Amino acid sequence: MHTQKSRRNFIKKSAVLGAGITLLPHLSYAIDSSKEQKLNVGLIGLGLRGTNHLKNLVQRNDIIVSAICDIDETRIGIANTLITKYQKNSATVFRKDEYDYRNLLNLKEVDAVIISTPWLWHTRMAKDAMKAGKYTGVEVSAANTMEECWDLVNVHEETVTHLMILENVNYRRDILAVLNMVKQDVFGELVHFRCGYQHDLRFVKLNDGKSAYGKGVEFGEKGISESKWRTQHSVSRNADVYPTHGVGPIATMCNINRGNRFSSITSNATKSIGLHNYIVKHGGSDHPNAKVKFKQGDVITSTIETTNGETIIVTHDCNLPRPYSLGFRVQGSNGLWEVDGNRIYIEGKSESHKWDKADEWLAKYDHPLWKKYGEYAAGAGHGGMDFFVLNAFVESAKQNIAPPLDVYDAAAWSAITPLSELSIENNGEPQNFPDFTRGMWIKRKPYNWMKDTF
Ligand SMILES: NC(=O)c1ccc[n+]([C@@H]2O[C@H](COP(=O)([O-])OP(=O)(O)OC[C@H]3O[C@@H](n4cnc5c(N)ncnc54)[C@H](O)[C@@H]3O)[C@@H](O)[C@H]2O)c1
Repeated sequence: MHTQKSRRNFIKKSAVLGAGITLLPHLSYAIDSSKEQKLNVGLIGLGLRGTNHLKNLVQRNDIIVSAICDIDETRIGIANTLITKYQKNSATVFRKDEYDYRNLLNLKEVDAVIISTPWLWHTRMAKDAMKAGKYTGVEVSAANTMEECWDLVNVHEETVTHLMILENVNYRRDILAVLNMVKQDVFGELVHFRCGYQHDLRFVKLNDGKSAYGKGVEFGEKGISESKWRTQHSVSRNADVYPTHGVGPIATMCNINRGNRFSSITSNATKSIGLHNYIVKHGGSDHPNAKVKFKQGDVITSTIETTNGETIIVTHDCNLPRPYSLGFRVQGSNGLWEVDGNRIYIEGKSESHKWDKADEWLAKYDHPLWKKYGEYAAGAGHGGMDFFVLNAFVESAKQNIAPPLDVYDAAAWSAITPLSELSIENNGEPQNFPDFTRGMWIKRKPYNWMKDTF
């Protein structure tokens, strides 16, 4: 009852907000929106990612960070320092235990929450947040198992509360320029995509327990930050455990859940040597972690088929030495973009059989959002995309409308983890994606990405 009531109040409040929000995101250095009602945000999880969100939130004029929650006293201290620096009001703190976040969710004044905790907490926290009527933002991936994917969808549909998966790569400047090219039909009819998460995380998954990127080969209880929880997934699961940075942008380009959908996936994994070799090299063969058997193959390759007849190759490659690349390729009947090599070829426009440097194309098709807010975005983290993903969340929450990256996206993208695991276990046997939209993908319209507001 209480939940429904506070949601209704918030919707009323949002209607008042509606008029001014399409002009500019209300950055403190943009326009003065102090007369407008503000969105009250609660943050759950204040590690490296949550703190980055906090930093961006407290610099906006349309936000009050009214509550924070973490079980680590040090992280609460860092967050409070930031809040005191930028905000008049202090935030109510929740730090008692792992379930204290539920007390944050009980606060009437909190309109929206952002969840930046370890993966195994995402779905249970997101479900509780939606049940409490809070507009919910969840970090990537959103879910770990097929049951969790369905849970997100079911709770959203039961509560009619929105959830946004906070996939920042969807807002990268080159990605939005390529999306613009897709929308303007430059590539022609889409046929094939490549993407993935190709990031040497050995020094993230293993550290010295004192600093996140410190030398050392500890993880679990003796580790710090992501090595505390992320590494165990490499021990326990042979799966693509982090698919959304790659597949999120591609899913948007080919209208997944909006006229198209993922139909099936096949996955294969290589042997696992990267993390073990790193431990031996930096900790010695006598180190207890040298005995740990890592289940996750070093390179996991999945091929997704869509109902519209495209294929998407998704790679997870995080345990071997390599420079960072998400490996994007977008290919259609007229030509293609490849991020590696920074090149584009469009038949009839490019010199026959020769690549163009992508820069000129990307500049020509620069997305309206980046044209308008590029300079504000610059300091926000990850080259600016963190500003845009958070801005989309805030502006959608203020109006209480469906976000650009919604619960069906969260479920379909996150489902790659359990489905790739099942396929690998069965020698690459194809696995079918469930239809999380229950048939609605047929008539759901693509989100309007080509606007300059959010
Ligand atoms: N989108 C991106 O570019 C990006 C970048 C980094 C991390 N992430 C995602 O953000 C999430 C957090 O990653 P991180 O790097 O900040 O990890 P982290 O380990 O630095 O932070 C996690 C925080 O959650 C807290 N926490 C754990 N259990 C809790 C509970 N029950 N209640 C309250 N707090 C709890 C921990 O104390 C810690 O401070 C992960 O899902 C990760 O995949 C996304």
